[in-house]
Amino acid sequence: MRAAAVAHPNVALIKYWGKREASGNLPAVGSLSMTLSALVTETAIEFDESLDHDVLLLNGVEQPAEDGRLVACMDALRELAGCDLHATVESENDFPTGAGLASSASGYAALVTAAAAALGIDARDPRLIDIARIGSGSAPRSLFGGIVLLENDGDGTVCEQIITPEEWALSVVVAITTEAPKTVTSRDGMEQSRLTSPYYAAWLDTHAHDLCQATGYVRDRDFFALAELAEHNCLKMHSVMMTTRPPLMYWSPSTLAVLRRIGELRADGLPVFFTIDAGPQVKAVCPTEVADDVTAALDAVPGVLRTIAGELGYGARVVGD
Ligand code: DP6
Repeated sequence: MRAAAVAHPNVALIKYWGKREASGNLPAVGSLSMTLSALVTETAIEFDESLDHDVLLLNGVEQPAEDGRLVACMDALRELAGCDLHATVESENDFPTGAGLASSASGYAALVTAAAAALGIDARDPRLIDIARIGSGSAPRSLFGGIVLLENDGDGTVCEQIITPEEWALSVVVAITTEAPKTVTSRDGMEQSRLTSPYYAAWLDTHAHDLCQATGYVRDRDFFALAELAEHNCLKMHSVMMTTRPPLMYWSPSTLAVLRRIGELRADGLPVFFTIDAGPQVKAVCPTEVADDVTAALDAVPGVLRTIAGELGYGARVVGD
């Protein structure tokens, strides 16, 4: 009863920030994301009758047993499979963990995929989407490749791929401005925003329109319309973050320097736009044919430690035996 899987992080073009007042880690809003081939999480799982609790090793370091999300996710997998064994989970990221690069999304997508294989659950079972979401609201998106839509649906969520990696040659250049983990997690931050930001209600009110329009632009491959809307939605989320009490200021000075540079590049005619999640890294989205130009320009911005570039990636999948 062992298996391993890989998954890629994803970056949202239309963001998820805030949860419904219900159990099950249900997002308040839908989201639209790109799966990133350049970053990889690999997770191995082994169920073992000698264990009386689940053990998680993240990049070789054992995590506290009380991590409620892992246990909730594992309990849901056990219930689905009709199995009561505990497991050792070993997960490795080839990129900075907890630094705004969606490590929890790829982590839970890889975990659910590996566990399903080890437990004999069909990988296409739609209940795996809900189980990944218990781990992290953005994790269902990493089960799929290309561009992915996650929508609220009654008491739950639905998630589907709307563009395959082959259908649109897009790249993402990640400008790393710090390798340090963030001080406030997305989970805590979004709850504080819900409770305290005066802009949170406006965020909710305008979100469905952004999601619907952006999905249409993706289906039409309308890069420039998507660019303008994705940047707007990103800045709207960061306005909610900054007006949270106490404020959530995820940016560093170099985050702003990279945004300015991307603005200049676009004004000079290069098709590129930015998005930023709960951290100081900037993700520049562009057609793959100009990715080398964007990489060279961002590598030259003072404060950028390094860049990681890649195309649209595939969904989570089992590897090895
Ligand atoms: C800013 O999925 O990490 O990256 O559901 O609490 O695990 P939890 O939150 P998480 O939040 C992601 C927030 C974001 C925007 C996005 O990816 O849509």
